[in-house]
Amino acid sequence: MFTLVPDAFAWIRERRPLAAVLGTELELRIFNYRDTTPLSAGQVDDEPYGGGLGMVLRVDVVAAAFDAAYGGMPDHRVVALSPAGRQLDQELVEELAAEPALTLLSARFEGFDQRILDHLCTDAVSIGPYVLSGGEIPALAVVDAVARRLPGALTEGSAELESFSAALDRGLEYPHYTRPSEFRGWSVPEILLSGDHGRIDAWRRERVRSVT
Ligand SMILES: C[S@@+](CC[C@H](N)C(=O)[O-])C[C@H]1O[C@@H](n2cnc3c(N)ncnc32)[C@H](O)[C@@H]1O
Repeated sequence: MFTLVPDAFAWIRERRPLAAVLGTELELRIFNYRDTTPLSAGQVDDEPYGGGLGMVLRVDVVAAAFDAAYGGMPDHRVVALSPAGRQLDQELVEELAAEPALTLLSARFEGFDQRILDHLCTDAVSIGPYVLSGGEIPALAVVDAVARRLPGALTEGSAELESFSAALDRGLEYPHYTRPSEFRGWSVPEILLSGDHGRIDAWRRERVRSVT
């Protein structure tokens, strides 16, 4: 992860599923562009050519960060978090989770110098058609979604039957209920209390079809 806000990634290391795979299936390294910038006074961005408001993350700053972290260009996929990128969905999450290594780049303010996207990245990923203030929340979304696909992240089998999984034909999951079976007159569907696992399974599959 390359960022201007390294603190944004502190809490996620201590929470499952990330905590369960850190140090085994996953190594997470956070780099601050300011630590390796070739410019003075920690400068990382500059005014846009052609005019306009906002500051743009400089291409030489990102290249210097790669030199420091990898001794040049990374030899794996480099994903810029950008509203203009491919929208993140479960298929893309599974594709990214199969990669041996990933670099994620966050920007803030006006975003990336286009040459970062054109020459230093292999992919651009968006977490949805809206604009956030920085790439850290999108990067956290990618890391969390990818980490829970790694072996040991979740209780065995618990990610097999969830929304967008192949087992549910990429559909939405059926609803869940727990105790109490009755609360303020709101009851749990009778079938779930029946103990008849064949009928419960059929009911759940029907719910998947109707909510998807
Ligand atoms: C304020 S935004 C820049 C918006 C950009 N000027 C535009 O109009 O598309 C700053 C940074 O936040 C991140 N970002 C914001 N929204 C995002 C989204 N929906 N998906 C992924 N990254 C996003 C990107 O790293 C972006 O460069």
